[in-house]
Amino acid sequence: MILVLNGPNLNRLGLREPGVYGSQTLEDLERLCEEWGAELGVPVTCRQNNYEGQLLEWIQDAEAHGFSGIVLNPGALTHYSYALRDAIAGQPLPVVEVHISNVDAREEFRHRSVTAAVCKGKISGLGLLGYRLALEALTEGTA
Ligand code: DQA
Repeated sequence: MILVLNGPNLNRLGLREPGVYGSQTLEDLERLCEEWGAELGVPVTCRQNNYEGQLLEWIQDAEAHGFSGIVLNPGALTHYSYALRDAIAGQPLPVVEVHISNVDAREEFRHRSVTAAVCKGKISGLGLLGYRLALEALTEGTA
């Protein structure tokens, strides 16, 4: 069972800067993740929240709730949240960081991820496909 977590502002997918993030909504993304999970033979649970503390609690509790891996798009928290980094580092499940946009091709502040170093890997700039690739990595045991 894999947990797909989306952080702040990702509830605005499809409405927010469509030139950067595309026209598909969070609902579309979550449905796709469930379909991809079904193809890969693993149940997927999707959650989004704008509050850092809620994301921390979901990450802290993921193993106890029976998840085997986490796909995480932390939104802007990527760039500054040491609390999120510590939550990832403090639990045993593999986490794959995903960014829809190519963060390295954007503003300087997006080039730094404080969370990537405690993740198994990072995918950036491939749109929603990044979530599928992360699910594949987690289900093939390569993450
Ligand atoms: C993002 C990139 C972040 O820099 C930004 O703050 C987001 C979305 C992405 O998916 O490309 O909210 O994580």
